[in-house]
Amino acid sequence: MQTVIKGTGRFVPPRKLTNHDLARWMETSDQWIRQRTGIEQRYWIAAEGRTGSSDLGLEASRPALEKAGWKAEDLDLIIFATLSPDYFFPGSGCLLQAKLGLKSTPALDIRQQCTGFLYGLATADAYIRSGLARRILLVGAEVHSTGLDVSTRGRDVAVIFGDGAAAVCLEGDDTSEQAGVMAVSLHADGSMAESLMTEAPASCCNPRIDEEMLRQGRHYPYMDGRNIFKMAVRLLPEVAKEVLDKAGLGVRDVDLFIPHQANLRINQAFAKAMDLPPDRVFNNIQRYGNTTAASIPLALDEALEREMIGPGATVMFLGLGSGLTWGAVLYRFQP
Ligand code: ACO
Repeated sequence: MQTVIKGTGRFVPPRKLTNHDLARWMETSDQWIRQRTGIEQRYWIAAEGRTGSSDLGLEASRPALEKAGWKAEDLDLIIFATLSPDYFFPGSGCLLQAKLGLKSTPALDIRQQCTGFLYGLATADAYIRSGLARRILLVGAEVHSTGLDVSTRGRDVAVIFGDGAAAVCLEGDDTSEQAGVMAVSLHADGSMAESLMTEAPASCCNPRIDEEMLRQGRHYPYMDGRNIFKMAVRLLPEVAKEVLDKAGLGVRDVDLFIPHQANLRINQAFAKAMDLPPDRVFNNIQRYGNTTAASIPLALDEALEREMIGPGATVMFLGLGSGLTWGAVLYRFQP
């Protein structure tokens, strides 16, 4: 039984913010952001009103379901990857399930941040291979903008994140031996958890959040950017080679590498380390920023739309982020 992609979809909110827009709130510049990250703009939800990750996930799910030719009722499982759930609990997967009009379809959340799509795909593949589910909706969605420190104190983190969502319909197929999810390599190193985290509200604190924590900004993301950058540049080529070895494939067998969009410089360093020309590594961070769990499926949806990949193509999804977690998945489209 192979896990194959039947449809993809994406959604970003209409409110576009350029680097110049951010420079109105914090000491930064278009030049600094472009040079260090490659980002030119990102999309954030409207400043007014209530839009959660499940709302963006719903908008991305609709085109994915349509392309698959499925109704929501056809789903056996929803897997929702996010670091910015609508609520502390329950998970956004349950909220999306209700928004899709479903009554009892199971839904689970994956809290693996930038590797949420990779862990979600591996989980979906395991459900499908074990016979626990046949049709799965995997969604990556983030609303970062409501949780960022947009003052100069938070500028190193605030400039990189964008809101957005993407969805993939996955189905078990016993006819396509040579297609589908071909190999998975996942890793985590919890000793680096505090290198990239949002601490509060924290269940290990009593109370979970107080005035002092708010004053210190412990409810905003903290990132040891330099260290994470170094880890990514070292570990992404390593895990790419590992997953290729597992599948018995070489770098040349991969038509397109679709890395997490954390920083254009990281992806350029990855291409250099793997001796790849720029056109074999997909990048769209320039227009979206880092949309975390949404970034890989969002890139996949765009690459398919632009016909950069088609029937029979082999792609590698890979990424590194908070946890620390990192990994890679090799996928081949049906001929
Ligand atoms: N505008 C202007 N100046 C800034 C900004 C900004 N937005 N942010 C930081 N600076 C300043 C700093 O204060 C510092 O000034 P100083 O030299 O006077 O002290 C200087 O710029 C350099 O700061 P660094 O933090 O060292 O900048 P760096 O080159 O490392 O770039 C960045 C920061 C872009 C965040 C980079 O470290 C990075 O991309 N790291 C990896 C991110 C990543 O991959 N994260 C994982 C995925 S995210 C997730 O999992 C949720």
